[in-house]
Amino acid sequence: MSLAPQELENSASKYAAEAIRLDSEGSRGMAIQAYQRAIEALVKLIQIYPEYKLNKIYMERASAYQNRVKALQMTNGIADAHPEKTDQMFRKTTPYSSNTPANSTNHKRDAGTESLGAEFDDLVMKDKPHVTWEEVIGLDDAKRAIRESIVYPTKRMDLFPLGWPRGILLYGPPGCGKTLLAAAAAAEIEGYFINVDAASMMSKWLGEAEKNVSKLFNLARRLHDTEGVPVLLFVDEIDSLLGSRNGEIGGEVRVKNQFLTEMDGINDKSKASKLYVIGATNKPWSLEAGFLRRFQKRIYVSLPDQASRIHLFRQYTERLKMEKSLKSEDLAKLTEGYSASDVKDICQSAQLRVVDELFQSGKALEEEANTRSIAPSDFKEILKMRKPSVSIDMMRAYSRWSEQFKAL
Ligand SMILES: Nc1ncnc2c1ncn2[C@@H]1O[C@H](COP(=O)(O)OP(=O)(O)OP(=O)(O)O)[C@@H](O)[C@H]1O
Ligand SMILES: [Mg+2]
Repeated sequence: MSLAPQELENSASKYAAEAIRLDSEGSRGMAIQAYQRAIEALVKLIQIYPEYKLNKIYMERASAYQNRVKALQMTNGIADAHPEKTDQMFRKTTPYSSNTPANSTNHKRDAGTESLGAEFDDLVMKDKPHVTWEEVIGLDDAKRAIRESIVYPTKRMDLFPLGWPRGILLYGPPGCGKTLLAAAAAAEIEGYFINVDAASMMSKWLGEAEKNVSKLFNLARRLHDTEGVPVLLFVDEIDSLLGSRNGEIGGEVRVKNQFLTEMDGINDKSKASKLYVIGATNKPWSLEAGFLRRFQKRIYVSLPDQASRIHLFRQYTERLKMEKSLKSEDLAKLTEGYSASDVKDICQSAQLRVVDELFQSGKALEEEANTRSIAPSDFKEILKMRKPSVSIDMMRAYSRWSEQFKAL
């Protein structure tokens, strides 16, 4: 027997309420999951009852949750892991498959994009992330360099008679905060944040990648020129612009040349432009000299040191129930070589262990039933099963490249 619309609607609204609460508390990962459940329930509702009178509203809601998930995935840096899971699910299962989800909440921010076509619009995120500098732990050099070249000039242009750098390259191992840094910069400036993933730009429109590059810069310029506000263009996985993914002979060269030309336009010092490009990559060695030269600042976003790991553990265990004997200092000592995102995952796994225990005991749904405190042994068990996500060889490769090419 299938569920009545009312029941599905109830479960969607329950998940949505939960998602909004988690979202406002900053639990992005859990909020994403709850939004996705809400979307699933709404989509199911529309499928089972195609004639239902409220379907239009449900579609709009699902779109809004979908947009929020995208925004959270971007600020969370997990976009790479599940690039378009919800997107695909949403498109396959709804009758409006060729439409982009309604962007009604972004009306003002869409001003410059009308003529770009829906497909391209999909790649570009214009929502401002909610990330503060304090959330970005360690990486002091990187934070300072970004503030000097982006935040200060946008606030006091008059103090920079010789101009300022417009291109910043963030490079380093996965999960150390490249995306997070870009998000923090975007959150601080009063302007637009355009977030695109170069890999999908290359793979989605075979043979048209160089057009996408120029559309992207046109969009950034248009927003900058018409509204006179700073625009931060964040191109993640920038190395894939140079890759051979698009198969077409000569294609990569055209994409690269287009990108270099666009960067030259942005770097033109005669204009007091507040248009910035932040590129991020895990594979800096695949970028050639001409490319690198356009990024005057090249910043190594490295693995967290002991002090940063202490800080990370403090941040990520803050809201967990922990045994008193568990000290962030000790956890940091046990996790040399782990990335910031590893540390976050480890804390999440610790919480999962105690939650799982509670459910296994059958008491989870009893009122006031709560998890036990997380103990040192929980972390030891987790670390046994989980090795650092970056190898020592990789780290050597980054250091070597850094010695040669860094520019702070
Ligand atoms: N320096 C940091 N301080 C606090 N949290 C961090 C830091 N670096 C990473 N994290 C956590 O790990 C997640 C992933 O980080 P992020 O996406 O910024 O990594 P990245 O360097 O962009 O990785 P990738 O190269 O895989 O894109 C962040 O959302 C955040 O939760
Ligand atoms: Mg990233």
